[in-house]
Amino acid sequence: VFANVVQAPEDPILGVTVAYNKDPSPVKLNLGVGAYRTEEGKPLVLNVVSRAEQMLVNDQSRVKEYLPITGLADFNKLSAKLIFGADSPAIQDNRVATVQCLSGTGSLRVGAEFLARHYHQRTIYIPLPTWGNHPKVLTIAGLSVKYYRYYDPATRGLNFQGLLEDLGSAPSGAIVLLHACAHNPTGVDPTLEQWDQIKQLMRSKGLLPFFDSAYQGFASGSLDADAQPVRLFVADGGECLAAQSYAKNMGLYGERVGALSFVCRTADVASRVESQLKLVIRPMYSNPPLHGASIVATILKDRDMFHEWTIELKAMADRIISMRQQLFDALQSRGTPGDWSHIIKQIGMFTFTGLNTEQVVFMTKEYHIYMTSDGRISMAGLNSKKVPHLADAIHEAVTR
Ligand code: LMR
Repeated sequence: VFANVVQAPEDPILGVTVAYNKDPSPVKLNLGVGAYRTEEGKPLVLNVVSRAEQMLVNDQSRVKEYLPITGLADFNKLSAKLIFGADSPAIQDNRVATVQCLSGTGSLRVGAEFLARHYHQRTIYIPLPTWGNHPKVLTIAGLSVKYYRYYDPATRGLNFQGLLEDLGSAPSGAIVLLHACAHNPTGVDPTLEQWDQIKQLMRSKGLLPFFDSAYQGFASGSLDADAQPVRLFVADGGECLAAQSYAKNMGLYGERVGALSFVCRTADVASRVESQLKLVIRPMYSNPPLHGASIVATILKDRDMFHEWTIELKAMADRIISMRQQLFDALQSRGTPGDWSHIIKQIGMFTFTGLNTEQVVFMTKEYHIYMTSDGRISMAGLNSKKVPHLADAIHEAVTR
């Protein structure tokens, strides 16, 4: 009965890891998926996460009961505080409805499905380019995707004028997906002044902001600084949505732990929104998993552990910055043609190199370096020992 099922293509990001795993070469390097590696090229479990897990294991009172449909209450409160700020007026007024979801993707999916059911505008504007999964998640949830200009390949920076023009001509009330910080794949963020202009434009047209916050702490190394754009939008009393992921900043990738928040006008609205979110979640996966959210809540509610987390997070962010510098220096010393300063200017986990698909294919074939076909490399996957190999590959790809 399934004989007519056709072979589906691999995922453009996760499929890179599949190809990498099949490659027997000892020099292979995976710069595809945005997943942090140590200087030794190994995945990292944060010390504070191990400590939290140990505490959970030692706690004899813990059981494995179902969580509520909306997830772990402590986790939800603390996640809202983390992104909106402890003194957020929206939190103080009880205007925020937060539900625990399956990391960033699950949060986006639940939020989008809610909007498709309850919001009068089904059109969502997403940046060009954006994370490859965005259009798929949003479309399948019932929204209709349109793009706004974001990146300028000529400057390898923000196309701010294009962004303002496209949002300026969006229909009033349209939803706008915004990367809260460390834009994926470009590593290019608006300045705070530009964010303010974006906010003014969006509010004047009644556009609804839907933040995807997958890298809080990775852009500047500071959790609060990276949340500023979101807080700017919340400060004016208006509505917004935020999808949070703990995959990168707590290294909880496979635990699938994230949160979706709706900032509403009143506490009463927030409570009704939450009741409807339950109707989205229950038939989708019933209720979320316990373990990851318990780790996060343990860390967020303990002052010392929270502090330890910020130090470990900063160390990851700093190592990535040092990789940027090392790769830039290595290309300079090879005299690689072109301006490579965007490697040090871009922020977060990724560099949007400007390499084209053909050059990427060449680097994979000849150098066993794996990356997405749009030329994005995960700086978090690089280490000092591998920098010369990567620089040689880029040099040859652009000069051959
Ligand atoms: C990425 O862009 O590499 C990450 O967000 C991982 C993923 O799920 O694609």
